[in-house]
Order: sequence, then C-alpha cells, then structure tokens
Amino acid sequence: MNFRPSYPIKTERLDLRPHRMDDLDDLLAFHSDPEVVRYVPWPVRNREQVRAALEVKLTQDALTEPGQWLVLAIELRETSTVIGEVLLKWDSDINRQGELGYALHTGYHGRGLAAEAARAMLRIGFEDLGLHRIQASVINGNTASTKLLERLGMHQEAHLIESLYFKGEWCDDLIWAIREQEWRSK
Ligand SMILES: CC(C)(COP(=O)(O)OP(=O)(O)OC[C@H]1O[C@@H](n2cnc3c(N)ncnc32)[C@H](O)[C@@H]1OP(=O)(O)O)[C@@H](O)C(=O)NCCC(=O)NCCS
Repeated sequence: MNFRPSYPIKTERLDLRPHRMDDLDDLLAFHSDPEVVRYVPWPVRNREQVRAALEVKLTQDALTEPGQWLVLAIELRETSTVIGEVLLKWDSDINRQGELGYALHTGYHGRGLAAEAARAMLRIGFEDLGLHRIQASVINGNTASTKLLERLGMHQEAHLIESLYFKGEWCDDLIWAIREQEWRSK
C-alpha cells in the first residue's frame, strides 16, 4: 500500500498536515514542557533534540508498510500555529489493527481540540485505511487522556499491571479501543 491522505485534513478549527522544518519553534514550545511529556515516551527536549525528532516526523506523512506511524502536525487554523501532534499507527495488515496517539501544548488543552484531531484520525483509520479496530495505550493515571478516549466512544479493554518500565518506575498500561462497527453506529 501507499497511503498518503490529501493534505491538509480539515476539521472545524484545525488543519492536520505533514510536519515542516519551520515548525521547530512551535514544537519546542510543547516538547520542552514537563507536563506535556509526563505520560509520553519522550523526554523533555531541548532545541537540538526537537530538531532530531522533527527530522523523523518529516518522513512520517504516508503509510507503506504495517508498523509505520502517520504523524501529523495539528495546526490551529486561526493563528497558523502548530499546537500539537496526532498519530495513527497502521499496526497490522491481516488483522487490520491501528493505534491512536496525540499530544497538545498545555495552552490549548480544555477546548476540545485534541478530540477534534483524534476524531479525524479515527475517520481516516476506518474509512480510508479500512481498519477493523483502533486502540490506544495509556499510562494509568493519565486521566486527561482516558477522558478523551471516552469522549471518542472508545472503551477500556485491559489494565495491564506493571507491564511498562516507564520513566524510572513500573507503570500499569491501560488499553482502550473501538471497533469499526461501533464507530459507524455512533
Ligand atoms: C491528552 C490530551 C491531548 C487531552 O487534551 P484535552 O484538551 O483535555 O482533550 P479534549 O480535546 O478532548 O478537550 C476536552 C476538554 O475541553 C472542554 N471543551 C471546551 N470546549 C470544547 C468543545 N468545543 N468540544 C469539546 N470539548 C470542549 C471539555 O469540557 C473538556 O474539558 P475537561 O477535561 O475539563 O472536562 C492532553 O491532556 C495532552 O496533550 N496531554 C499530554 C500528552 C499526553 O499525555 N498524550 C496522551 C498519551 S496516551
């Protein structure tokens, strides 16, 4: 497969699009925030570390093989600022499984913007990629994320006890998911 959505993917307030090198300052603003990275698998990053991460993201605007992530910048249309990122993994071809991820600058939390971006990615996953089930993996305690998943119509399927050694301690991993049929009937 060679799946590359036609960009930008427009929602009410957002443009989801591939990253560009000139997004560096916007990314630094949230990649350097301990509150944003607390539950995501990256450290607090300095400018050089953000640059290195951004170089990888520049290549993640299409899916050609299972196991790859589509990683898109969330641009607030009103100001043209990149306020976060939203991710969709094409996990398995035969099983048609996917995985959702997201992170937003704290200054933009509480406005339904992450949910708006995530809904667009679920639509891409189910309608364009033909996925059967999309899951999200959340560190136990990340209530902002589980509230969002609930709002998306996803439900918790598993609570894996101390299955992750995460940022220096053993953590529980919560697996949330939604299947295509459930998503279509919402
Ligand atoms: C997880 C994360 C993306 C959630 O962001 P968020 O802004 O709380 O999520 P939503 O977009 O769903 O917004 C919902 C909030 O906006 C409010 N809201 C305001 N206007 C709204 C609107 N038009 N539509 C929907 N919700 C709206 C809701 O009431 C809700 O507020 P509440 O949490 O106080 O109940 C954010 O906390 C984050 O980036 N965290 C750091 C990274 C991270 O942990 N990622 C997940 C790893 S699994």
